[in-house]
Amino acid sequence: MIRSYSDFQLRKHNTFGIDTTAKYYFEFTETEDLAGFLAVNKDLHNWPVLILGEGSNMLFVNNFNGLVIHPNIPGIRITHEDRNHVWLEVGSGVVWDDLVEYAVSMGLGGIENLSLIPGKVGAAAVQNIGAYGMEIQYRIVSVTGIDLLTQTEYAIDAADCLFTYRDSIFKNQLKDRFVITATTFKLDKFPEYMLHYADLESEVGKLGEINLRNIRQTVIRIRESKLPDPKVIGNAGSFFKNPVIESSKAEELLNHYPNLPHYPATDEKTKLAAGWMIEQCGWKGFRRGDAGVHTKQALVLVNYGNATGKEIFELSEEIRQSVNEKFGVNLEREVNVIG
Ligand code: FAD
Ligand code: EPU
Repeated sequence: MIRSYSDFQLRKHNTFGIDTTAKYYFEFTETEDLAGFLAVNKDLHNWPVLILGEGSNMLFVNNFNGLVIHPNIPGIRITHEDRNHVWLEVGSGVVWDDLVEYAVSMGLGGIENLSLIPGKVGAAAVQNIGAYGMEIQYRIVSVTGIDLLTQTEYAIDAADCLFTYRDSIFKNQLKDRFVITATTFKLDKFPEYMLHYADLESEVGKLGEINLRNIRQTVIRIRESKLPDPKVIGNAGSFFKNPVIESSKAEELLNHYPNLPHYPATDEKTKLAAGWMIEQCGWKGFRRGDAGVHTKQALVLVNYGNATGKEIFELSEEIRQSVNEKFGVNLEREVNVIG
């Protein structure tokens, strides 16, 4: 199935709920459709391209004057299994949390801590989604897609995806060039639970037995208690990454701010909690017009209704500046700003 439009309304296609349009929009459900569409529409080859999933990590500050490609390939397929593992090839159009639910219901471990992250499977590899002590890079075997430059389809092994915290080759060298069509994951038949993040273990324990279903339920409950539901209040999750800085610099900061939450990142680097720093700058719950900072999580910027992308972007820049002035730390955006 293909759908193609011009001057396409994107308000329902970005979780910030920004009222914006795309010059051209193309959605497809089978890999061959994209090559066919590009062969027929040669005039589109020179337009800027934006690959769009559910738009849950996007901020549109202008209309997009180019071609939006929305891969919506369905399907979860077991391709291989051995005594301990199952390999799943999953279409990029599958809703991420439907995959987590599928895995949990099959008793397969490895992605349960990533419950309720919005978006599609296609985007999961792009920013190496992570939560509650787990990152998807450890479960990805390979990522398949169509390279718009060479018009060929190929798979990239996980080791070549250059995954790091909220980053990958798809956000850099292959940005807006490699249209992910499917991702292969390796999950465990005999799961080892990862419960070291904050008080996850004790929270799961309250449900009785520690198992995949109870971990999923607990993660969902914790997330619902602090993150705004995009169906109710527009947002794109954490607006900034948690900064990773030299441990020596982190120690200096901790001398001044001993309560600043921090975690070892590598041998020489430390990750700081950006939400804490933004809160300390007085932004938590701030609102100007319809643009604001979430009342329960200062790392999340929100659209209460009719904020423009520009208003949210400007607010984010003020926040970034004040964190820099107070802590001397530069916040890097996690959200993709378009336009
Ligand atoms: P989009 O926002 O549409 O796109 C994101 C990026 O991926 C863009 O660069 C886009 O060009 C690219 N892309 C999308 N699909 C493809 C494809 N098929 N091929 C190539 N490139 C593609 N993220 C976390 O990591 N952890 C969290 O805990 C988390 N919590 C969130 C909570 C809320 C309430 C919200 C709104 C967001 C949260 N996010 C979180 C961010 C977001 O859910 C993820 O980044 C998600 O993977 C984005 O999926 P999407 O389909 O909406 O992608
Ligand atoms: N904190 C505050 N004030 C705030 C927000 C947070 O003091 O307003 C403190 C918390 O008390 C805690 C620490 O900061 O001590 C960390 O907070 P939290 O556990 O809520 O997580 P986070 O670091 O703010 C990250 C991810 C989230 C992910 C959670 C859970 C990033 C940029 N964000 O948030 O991912 O769900 O951990 O693992 O790494 C996303 O990427 O969109 C996202 C939501």
